[in-house]
Amino acid sequence: MNPFTLEGKKILITGASSGIGKQCAISCSQMGAIVILIGRNEEKLIKTMALLSKGDHQYYVFDVTNYPEIESIVKEAVDKTGKISGFIYSAGIEIPMPLNVTQPEHYEALFATNVIAGFEFAKILSKKKYSDESGSSFVFIASIMSTVGDSSLSGYSASKGAIVAGIRSIALELANKKIRVNAISPAQISDTKMTSNKFSLLNKEDIDKIYDRHPLGLGSAEDVANGCVYLLSDASKWITGTNLIIDGGYSAK
Ligand SMILES: NC(=O)c1ccc[n+]([C@@H]2O[C@H](COP(=O)([O-])OP(=O)(O)OC[C@H]3O[C@@H](n4cnc5c(N)ncnc54)[C@H](OP(=O)(O)O)[C@@H]3O)[C@@H](O)[C@H]2O)c1
Repeated sequence: MNPFTLEGKKILITGASSGIGKQCAISCSQMGAIVILIGRNEEKLIKTMALLSKGDHQYYVFDVTNYPEIESIVKEAVDKTGKISGFIYSAGIEIPMPLNVTQPEHYEALFATNVIAGFEFAKILSKKKYSDESGSSFVFIASIMSTVGDSSLSGYSASKGAIVAGIRSIALELANKKIRVNAISPAQISDTKMTSNKFSLLNKEDIDKIYDRHPLGLGSAEDVANGCVYLLSDASKWITGTNLIIDGGYSAK
């Protein structure tokens, strides 16, 4: 059997309405998985659904920071599809802002969406009644900002560093339940809303500088999705607690 296949796996994906999460949903379905999509924008979720390979996929319109309702979404998905064998946490926000104007509520918003909601999902998905007994894999989309810094990104970087630090402990705690937990840290991805929003605030010189920092050019959502497929597949069955850097050489400089 091809160890890279996702045939028979059921994978829940947050942030599936856009960018990296959307591409992860498409790539996982192409590799044979049944996917359960989560996002706030129903119109965009329906567009993602239309791009999936054939299968009994589902979507839920849900704000991940509505912590008390996470379990009811997971329960409904499991009742319909069966136990979950993979999870991609790609919901995320970036609030680029110099330190001197950043307020506590900006840090709180970044941590709520980027970290706390993801760890709440991990807590619930790791329950015996929701988790595939043959094993499962959780993948958190962090950022290269977990590892290196940049100006105007103190809150965002801190939240991404928190993911990478937190998943190590979660990985150790869940290993005896046959659940692997890893992060992926991409540098700049060209084809997502987050990037187009960021670039709309920058002048040409600053955008050129971002391109210059990537020896292999900017990445695509597919470059990240391919890493997710690997970490969700049995080909990575001995990998847990790691941060897979997918950055076109950004951090090699
Ligand atoms: N783009 C990059 O260059 C880059 C680089 C490194 C890391 N990342 C990380 O990759 C992840 C995906 O980013 P992206 O570039 O694909 O951005 P994107 O196109 O803006 O997508 C972000 C996704 O997160 C969802 N989301 C945000 N807040 C949510 C909430 N409260 N509840 C439910 N869903 C929520 C959005 O859903 P709705 O639109 O439906 O609300 C959307 O599907 C993020 O964690 C980001 O930090 C991105």
